[in-house]
Amino acid sequence: MGARSFVVTVAVDNAELAADRLWQAGVRAVEERATGDGRVELWTVVGDADAAIAAVASTLDDGWRWRIEDADDEWPQTWREHALPMVVGERLTVVPAWHEHDVAAGERVVVRIEPGAAFGLGDHPTTALTLAALEREVSLGTAATVLDVGCGTGVLAIAASMLGVDRARAVDVSAAAVESTIANARLNGVSEAVDCDTTPVSELAGVYDLVVANILAPALVAMSDDLRRLPASHGRLVVSGVLAGAHHHVLEALAPMQPIRTDTSGGWAAVTLAHR
Ligand SMILES: C[S@@+](CC[C@H](N)C(=O)[O-])C[C@H]1O[C@@H](n2cnc3c(N)ncnc32)[C@H](O)[C@@H]1O
Repeated sequence: MGARSFVVTVAVDNAELAADRLWQAGVRAVEERATGDGRVELWTVVGDADAAIAAVASTLDDGWRWRIEDADDEWPQTWREHALPMVVGERLTVVPAWHEHDVAAGERVVVRIEPGAAFGLGDHPTTALTLAALEREVSLGTAATVLDVGCGTGVLAIAASMLGVDRARAVDVSAAAVESTIANARLNGVSEAVDCDTTPVSELAGVYDLVVANILAPALVAMSDDLRRLPASHGRLVVSGVLAGAHHHVLEALAPMQPIRTDTSGGWAAVTLAHR
């Protein structure tokens, strides 16, 4: 069966917002096609499963129309040719798994990512922001255990492990994301140090030195009790997937944890929080 395309039609003014929404919902590539009447079609692939389609559709605004089309078999692959390595923070480089990249001794920590059916390559602004915050926290030497909530490709947990944390735990509601994380951990030689499954965040026990969650704001608010519970008393929480100027409600839900640093990029924010 050929891939099916998920097509969203929005006014030109909403194109960027809608594309961001699709990225956050976990797609790997978005192609914009002008319709010539002031609207834009955003073409992407979300997989053939009805549940995956419904999950992405549920993140769209009410007025945005969407439909399913038979995809031409070529284009879902063409984005792979244009994917480039991404330099993040002081030490990390995220590289598409199929990309030639020479790793010289003493060079940066190179994380290879094959997105499979999971969220992005690791090059979305929210992923880059979270990776940079994670690298900063790990470099302080106080983060021996890391929890990655909503792991997608596993890029955050895998990077944590490659930066030297003892154990990285990763969870995602999506079985495809778990599969992707396990495969990427193997690809990067850190299978032994990264545990990943679909355990709901409410059922996770224990505490972690660092908890990272790059998930859209409504999901962060919904799981805020657990996001407050899971960082150790000396620990940190990094949340991203929130808009730079509009995440006050997320911080309110996470109180009494206090934001100690906010980083922004491309209209998105990553907030690092600590217990009072
Ligand atoms: C924006 S992606 C982030 C992926 C990856 N951590 C990154 O930074 O590139 C969000 C991920 O969160 C997952 N997710 C959404 N709601 C969730 C929930 N309630 N519990 C666990 N994972 C969830 C999605 O399946 C998706 O893989």
